[in-house]
Amino acid sequence: MALSGKVAIVTGAAQGLGKAFTERLLQRGARQVCVADVKVEDGQRTVSDFGQTYGKDRATFVKCDVSNEKDLEDLFVAVKRRYGPLDIMVNNAGIANETNWSKMVDINMKGLMKGTFLAIEAMRKDTGGHGGVIVNVASSAGLTPVFCTPSYCASKYGVVGFTLSWAESRTIVDLGIRFAVMCPAFTDTEIIKLGTNSIMLQPELATKMMDFVGINKVETVSDAFMQLVDDPESNGTIATITANHGIRFKRHKFTNLSML
Ligand SMILES: NC(=O)c1ccc[n+]([C@@H]2O[C@H](COP(=O)([O-])OP(=O)(O)OC[C@H]3O[C@@H](n4cnc5c(N)ncnc54)[C@H](O)[C@@H]3O)[C@@H](O)[C@H]2O)c1
Repeated sequence: MALSGKVAIVTGAAQGLGKAFTERLLQRGARQVCVADVKVEDGQRTVSDFGQTYGKDRATFVKCDVSNEKDLEDLFVAVKRRYGPLDIMVNNAGIANETNWSKMVDINMKGLMKGTFLAIEAMRKDTGGHGGVIVNVASSAGLTPVFCTPSYCASKYGVVGFTLSWAESRTIVDLGIRFAVMCPAFTDTEIIKLGTNSIMLQPELATKMMDFVGINKVETVSDAFMQLVDDPESNGTIATITANHGIRFKRHKFTNLSML
């Protein structure tokens, strides 16, 4: 995908993976990347740093809590008004909190679903959009049970099923939109720092598991992200990223609807 002139939104981009995805899009020439996050100071600092490196005003910060539908709706209105049709949506914001699991589901799953619905409306070619790509960030915990994060797993399994179901919708794909999902294993960001950033069950065993499984570099995960964005055939692709095996892409086998 040629990125020059493209407009993108990345949620949860004040830090961590979302920040790295934003930087990759800017490096590749995206015209505008909107950093949407609840963390105002961090988000503004990120945008200001990117402004110095990649040119003033190519990244903008918008305060947005993805669990608040109105925040997300306002975000899409603002992006359309300021920059025109959206080309790339990255639903990345997420938390790990087994204690406040209801809030976690609101962010990891319902926020991502709302972001996807709004992006479909913004991109569909039959109502003025240009088409585009929606990358949803799940986790390896969306493909494999994890004893220390059952509720996180539930939210991420949901993201995988939701994203692949949209990818299977020929009606929407024919309107120029593709859907891909990222399933990284543990990656070196705040979310795996147990304590206030990450609340898992049996933290001692969780730490042992991280040592056993290994920890991805952020760069490896953002390499996988860019490949999903670039590949015009990435609709229905699951990217898995593990410290042992690196990046792997698996294309979902679609139901043959013509049989119905
Ligand atoms: N790091 C890992 O080990 C790992 C592995 C698999 C999947 N993931 C997923 O990757 C995504 C990014 O996480 P990360 O690793 O960069 O962690 P992180 O904690 O560094 O970043 C998460 C970002 O999301 C933002 N956020 C949290 N709640 C929000 C809300 N309600 N609205 C908007 N923004 C919100 C945070 O402020 C933060 O900037 C998450 O969805 C996470 O579940 C991470």
